[in-house]
Amino acid sequence: MLNDKKVLYSGMQATGTLTLGNYLGALKNWVNLSDEYECFYGVMDLHSLTVRQVPADFRKNARSLYALYVAAGLDPKKNCLYYQSHVSAHAELGWILDCFTYMGELNRMTQFKDKAAKHADNINAGLYTYPVLMAADILLYQADMVPVGVDQKQHLEICRDIAERFNNIYGEVFTIPEAYIPKAGAKIMSLQEPEKKMSKSDENVNATIRLLDDPDTIIRKFKRAVTDSGSEVRYSEDKPGVSNLMSIYGCVTGKTMEEIEREFDGKGYGDFKLAVGETVADELKPLQKRYEELMADKAFIDGCIKENDEKARYFANKTLRKVQKKVGLTEQIR
Ligand code: TYM
Repeated sequence: MLNDKKVLYSGMQATGTLTLGNYLGALKNWVNLSDEYECFYGVMDLHSLTVRQVPADFRKNARSLYALYVAAGLDPKKNCLYYQSHVSAHAELGWILDCFTYMGELNRMTQFKDKAAKHADNINAGLYTYPVLMAADILLYQADMVPVGVDQKQHLEICRDIAERFNNIYGEVFTIPEAYIPKAGAKIMSLQEPEKKMSKSDENVNATIRLLDDPDTIIRKFKRAVTDSGSEVRYSEDKPGVSNLMSIYGCVTGKTMEEIEREFDGKGYGDFKLAVGETVADELKPLQKRYEELMADKAFIDGCIKENDEKARYFANKTLRKVQKKVGLTEQIR
């Protein structure tokens, strides 16, 4: 609890360009929650190092992510938007929490298994302890709530387990966070393989909508989206392609699945896909315009980063000092 408001924490990796999945599963909800909570959002550049990065591209991606946070509607005066690597407390608490996490727990992480299979040539220790650094991110700010897509649920569970374990030994040091997984949009699927999550790293360009895709590209990708046999726009488990498009359309318009079924009753997949494409393109237009303006305003973004890095450092260090004291590390002589 900070200034009588509950604390919200989340972040995204600073790799590639965000997808519509990142937007509907996370970013769009962050904007909706930002008045109600004291919010911290990190550009998770340390997490991104678990996969080899080209340094110059990586720096650009991190800045682009920062600008996208702002362009999507997160006011940097009200929300603490900062770089994870600029707050050294993340790495420091990460190490301490490594010593309170069991290998057996980490072995169960499905994302680790997936990523290890994908990057068989680089299964590094960072990939393995990724969830512990994530726990440190959240616990440093004493977060009450963490809005994420469904794929992060297991990471939130291990974060809670680590926090509870620590609190059981040392008293009430950490707030135990709750995951906030939206009812709609928590798992947006690939447009080409609707049984697979839409993912930044998908090599098939038609599988993902990027937030910075221009309107024609967005509409074209939706037109090419894989649909199912039949021609009815109906939400059902045996129609993963159409159901995914309906979820996307519902998230953007706020319409229920029944309303969408009624709207497209008697119309074919072609009309429906075009409508989804146009709706998404329209939704993203203002964000894209604002993004271009922000990327051109170096001084503004630099100022926001500097101010918010300091704010984040202040809160994070408070928790870190407390933890250091609890575990018995000797205080520095200042
Ligand atoms: P990342 O960068 O993979 O994803 C960022 C957010 O987007 C959500 N998301 C999706 N939601 C719906 N459908 C999809 N297809 C989809 N793809 C991604 C993710 O669930 C996530 O909310 N480990 C985190 C970053 C992180 C973090 C944290 C998050 C590091 N520390 C502390 C919260 C709190 C991640 O890899 O997100």
